[in-house]
Amino acid sequence: MKDHPLEGQKLQWLLASAVDAMLMVDRAGKIVLANEPVARLFGYTIGQLQEMPLENLMPERYRGHHVGLRQDFLAHSKARAMGGGKALFGLRANGEEFPVEVSLSPLHTDDGWALVMATVHDITERKAAESALQESEARMRAIFETAVDAILTIDTEGRIDRFNPAAQRLFGYSEAEVMGKNVSMLMPSPDRDRHDSYLKHYQETGQRKIIGIGREVIGKRKDGSVFPMDLSVAETFVGERRMFTGIVRDVTERHEAINAMRREFRALEEKRQAEAKFRKLVEQVQAIIYIVDPKEPDRLMYISPQIKMLGFTPEEWLDDPELPVKQIHQEDRKLAMEAIYRCRSQGVPLRTEYRLLARNGRALWFRDEAEAVTDESGRHMFVQGILVNITQNKLAEEALRNSQDELRRLAAHQEHVKEEERKRIAREIHDELGGQLTSIKAYVSVSVEQARARGEEPDPLLSDAADMARVAIETVRRVITDLRPSVLDQLGVWAALEWYTERVQKMSGLRCQCAIDDALVDFEIDTELSTMLFRVVQEALTNVVRHADASEVTVAVRLQSGLIVLEIVDNGKGIDTERLLNRESMGLLGMYERTRHFGGELKISGIPGKGTSVVLRLSVDGQNG
Ligand SMILES: Nc1ncnc2c1ncn2[C@@H]1O[C@H](COP(=O)(O)OP(=O)(O)OP(=O)(O)O)[C@@H](O)[C@H]1O
Ligand SMILES: [Mg+2]
Repeated sequence: MKDHPLEGQKLQWLLASAVDAMLMVDRAGKIVLANEPVARLFGYTIGQLQEMPLENLMPERYRGHHVGLRQDFLAHSKARAMGGGKALFGLRANGEEFPVEVSLSPLHTDDGWALVMATVHDITERKAAESALQESEARMRAIFETAVDAILTIDTEGRIDRFNPAAQRLFGYSEAEVMGKNVSMLMPSPDRDRHDSYLKHYQETGQRKIIGIGREVIGKRKDGSVFPMDLSVAETFVGERRMFTGIVRDVTERHEAINAMRREFRALEEKRQAEAKFRKLVEQVQAIIYIVDPKEPDRLMYISPQIKMLGFTPEEWLDDPELPVKQIHQEDRKLAMEAIYRCRSQGVPLRTEYRLLARNGRALWFRDEAEAVTDESGRHMFVQGILVNITQNKLAEEALRNSQDELRRLAAHQEHVKEEERKRIAREIHDELGGQLTSIKAYVSVSVEQARARGEEPDPLLSDAADMARVAIETVRRVITDLRPSVLDQLGVWAALEWYTERVQKMSGLRCQCAIDDALVDFEIDTELSTMLFRVVQEALTNVVRHADASEVTVAVRLQSGLIVLEIVDNGKGIDTERLLNRESMGLLGMYERTRHFGGELKISGIPGKGTSVVLRLSVDGQNG
């Protein structure tokens, strides 16, 4: 230092007391003075720095260029900071580089020495902070530009300040179209008209409705369409400016998914309710309901719990396909199964009755009705059936049938008794009264003969008595015939019919014809049946005479495919059908009853003005009906 005319120790002291790293360089670029901080910064001792070319403190690549800069500075010598904006680096003794900021000030001594004082700042930390800030800004920008969510910022007046590409895509506006415009343009009414007041309200009261909370609102696109969106808003400060950042997500898809889910759920719920209702209904019916899949006719798909009336659970009835068949009464099984299969495999409606055995062996009567249920195209979807317990009806039916049979047997018995009684009375009258009258007539005749033999005129009273006796005998005969024509017992029913029709013709003047099929002549018919046929013809002809106003009647009997067919046809006014329906008069009723007792069938029909026909059909071996 003694070579350099410094101003005493003043400068040296100044440098030594400085906190900043400082050094002094002469014209030739040699370090003439350095303080402790600069030695520490560069990793040298103060002694080592002494006389060292300044360029040694910077990386080699800058050195050549720097010599020029330095000389230039000395020529113009004005204090300034170096490296403003440009990267400037220092080089430590250990070869390490680090960013620096250097301020220079020229010093001129009285004898014309020019020195430069440099203050060196290590700006490693500042540089690092700067680049971190830059990086984070770049990152933020990238997020803003590439975010899937729409992001926009507005100022306190609601004016749009930024509008990212996702927002542009979502709303259909370019950034230029929305810039500076009120954000309410992105909303439909009523939010559109109220947004300014929302903002104002928040800024006045600090009450948050959406800021920092987020909620679902409706957005409006440029094309006018609206969509549900999730909006979250954050409040930020850029310097002094208060801003709001909104992040928007289109939730149309989520909405649709939720709606679809709701619809599906509702449909499911409705279906479930309908099913529950149907099930309840089915299970309340006093019958057993079942369903069969036509593809599996041997198996039931469903049976209602009422199957318990047979002592079985639905599970038992469904699990064993043999069981429902086995429980059909053996006598009914074949016919029932045939009908059931026709229904299940061909869709023929089922209407049948059979007995089912309960678990305890008791037989119950059921009516089984089933039908195929088809879809719109007519395809059989399933067979639906109902089993109604008709045991009570069956019992009542049977009781009724029994009592009817009894009644009929009783009537037949009475008929028989009546016929026997008639026969007895006829015989009695014939034998007793007939005999006595014949005797009286004989006595009178003898007495008349005797008077004549004595040559006397017989008493005219005797002649009268003889006439009266003759008339009485005829009357008795007629009464006997009416009671029971002996010809019926003696010659059989066919001859009796011929005799009777002739008699009716004689007595009524009606033309009566009787035609008996030859095949019947040798046909043996027992007394009971003979009497029945005779009585039917008797009643029918009596009716013709009494009611028909006919001129002609035909009685015809023939044998036709194992049946005796008896027809009494007249050409009168024709019996009216009303009278037939209310069978109150005894004549027709007796005819029906007698026929039914022998298992026959009676049909009476009339055509007004044309006549009446009575047709009786009787199976020849059905006499025990
Ligand atoms: N051949 C017929 N032509 C027209 N009407 C007839 C004939 N046969 C019966 N009828 C009508 O049917 C009614 C019922 O006949 P039905 O024999 O049962 O009774 P009825 O002859 O009146 O009395 P009864 O009990 O004495 O026989 C008759 O009253 C008559 O009106
Ligand atoms: Mg009658």
